[in-house]
Amino acid sequence: MDEEKAALAEIPLKSSPRHLTSKLFASLAAFCLAGLILASDRRPSNDYPQVPLQEPVGTVNISPCPDQDDLPGSKCGYIVVPKDYNDPSAGVAKIAVGILPALTSTSKGSVFFNPGGPGGAAKQRITKRGDSLRAYVGDDYDIVAFDPRGIGETLPATKCFFDFFSYGDFKRNTVLERSYEFASNFTPEELRSTILLQQRETHALLETVFETCRVTMGEELKYMGTTTVVRDIDFMTKALDGPDALINYYGGSYGSVLGQYLVNMLPDRVGRVAIDGIVDAKLWADKPPYQWYSQWLVETDNAYGQFYTGCSESGPIHCPLAEYQGEDPAKIRTRVESFIDSLYYQPIPAPFAKIPRILTSGRAKWAIQFALLVPSWWPKLSVSLTSAMNGDPADLLNNSDFYLYRDLERNSVTCNDVPKFAPPSAEEVTDELLNVYQNVSRFVFSVVTSEPDSGCQYWPVTPPERFTGPWNNTLRNPMLILSSTADPVTPMASALKVQARLGDSARLLLQDGPGHATSSLPSLCTSRYARAYFTNGTLPPKDARCKPDFTPFPSSEVSISRFSREEYEILDRISGLNEILLHARGNSGW
Ligand SMILES: *[C@@H]1O[C@H](CO)[C@@H](O)[C@H](O)[C@H]1NC(C)=O
Ligand SMILES: *[C@@H]1O[C@H](CO)[C@@H](O)[C@H](O)[C@H]1NC(C)=O
Ligand SMILES: *[C@@H]1O[C@H](CO)[C@@H](O)[C@H](O)[C@H]1NC(C)=O
Ligand SMILES: *[C@@H]1O[C@H](CO)[C@@H](O)[C@H](O)[C@H]1NC(C)=O
Repeated sequence: MDEEKAALAEIPLKSSPRHLTSKLFASLAAFCLAGLILASDRRPSNDYPQVPLQEPVGTVNISPCPDQDDLPGSKCGYIVVPKDYNDPSAGVAKIAVGILPALTSTSKGSVFFNPGGPGGAAKQRITKRGDSLRAYVGDDYDIVAFDPRGIGETLPATKCFFDFFSYGDFKRNTVLERSYEFASNFTPEELRSTILLQQRETHALLETVFETCRVTMGEELKYMGTTTVVRDIDFMTKALDGPDALINYYGGSYGSVLGQYLVNMLPDRVGRVAIDGIVDAKLWADKPPYQWYSQWLVETDNAYGQFYTGCSESGPIHCPLAEYQGEDPAKIRTRVESFIDSLYYQPIPAPFAKIPRILTSGRAKWAIQFALLVPSWWPKLSVSLTSAMNGDPADLLNNSDFYLYRDLERNSVTCNDVPKFAPPSAEEVTDELLNVYQNVSRFVFSVVTSEPDSGCQYWPVTPPERFTGPWNNTLRNPMLILSSTADPVTPMASALKVQARLGDSARLLLQDGPGHATSSLPSLCTSRYARAYFTNGTLPPKDARCKPDFTPFPSSEVSISRFSREEYEILDRISGLNEILLHARGNSGW
């Protein structure tokens, strides 16, 4: 709701009352987008505000952070970099940074941090809560969070929708927000024709969005790719730590893509680099997004199965979906899935949710898929699902009412990274998704919505530089790779691939159990290895594995009192770190 209010508050004064009315109408109903555009008379225009960037390249303007809730000692500001490293005439970009100085008397340098997305703003999160990163990064580095190109406070920003209504308004109640609708009892023919219609709608929506971007932002869109962000990290390391300083970095999820680009583009500049929750950067750079899911989702149904096993073991006190402790997990699952199917035929009104809307089957699957990312959310998910099954979907909707992106921040990274490809037909995309649905994961149609990378075939610009490998360089210092064994969106298999390519230049540490990136289920063992790596350069032994210190659902065997005060503080920090990784993307749920 904050985002909604913010969006309303942002309507420029020059907007006519008629526009405001339209805006409210859009928030409340938004069933008729075409009609809305006609009625409001607001068209995207090409007067994208050029940022007055007068300061010269290399300017570092950093001072104590201004807000009451900024951490003591934290510093805020920006670094001016070339907008285009290949073309000085393109002007400059201003990278917003937030810095938490080392806790030790002498700093070993900067560790740059990326929280994922792409599209995640890091600066504010770090200056307000970033001390939790020390659970992995240790005490002796300055933690440097920056809002990457096109994101957060960095300029130029991605503002495809800057002047009429938000991307959230545009998507509301379309397939891009509701997710794909179908029931599990469809015949293959019914399923294909149902998905195909929705895929055609998706294509039309995405073409509209990207054409809008072309008109509002034009060539400004081409500077947001990962390759350019690597150049920024290099530039900022030199500016902050000196010309010979090595680059240190920690990133999760999409941050693992940025990390792989970084070490392979600049192998001789690698200091300490750790990545967690691994996306295969080669797949990312080589294939259109709709061809990623067959590799992304190989553990999703595994994690989903663990949700029901954990629920059964824990019983109704922590998982009210179970009728009794030890109930057959398959029975619990059948009840939930029958309910979701029933939503296809009869959605439930939710007038008292944060945003009045309806609970559809696509939306319910999306909420589950999203909650699978973080095992500590599973008990709340089970409570929300139970309420929905009892007729009140507000809690489920409230908790999954996330607007990941204000605008096209995510696509402006993704689409500058992927190769140019001929627009696939709706049939081609549908068949690829159905293949994944049948052979890999039942959540593929939710992921299309929750990880919105689609539509790059309509991307209107070409980045100045696009790194495409090699991905197997010999690094100056080895990189640390972290992965959960049952990560529902960035599977262990991707981590194994990255490790295999880099050989002795990387060391993989696996953490047993579900969850997106290791911090989603805290483990003292994992944090010890990560800190030993950053602090002393010590790698975990080959084939090292850690266990989490918690189970997703509370278990009678795990009692907080078995931890020392210090251990408890570290576990608490890992939870904070996980929140930064997940919520930096703009999520407000669970
Ligand atoms: C959902 O959010 C609305 C608005 O914040 C609130 O009034 C309502 O009580 C919430 N419902 C539940 C079940 O949490
Ligand atoms: C699932 O995989 C099999 C074997 O590769 C393939 O023949 C089949 O067509 C796939 N299913 C779908 C729906 O594409
Ligand atoms: C890196 O990968 C390329 C392409 O797969 C291969 O040709 C090359 O031999 C590899 N280099 C090393 C050092 O392993
Ligand atoms: C780094 O090495 C020193 C000396 O062996 C050791 O005392 C310290 O605990 C190590 N630090 C971490 C974080 O592992």
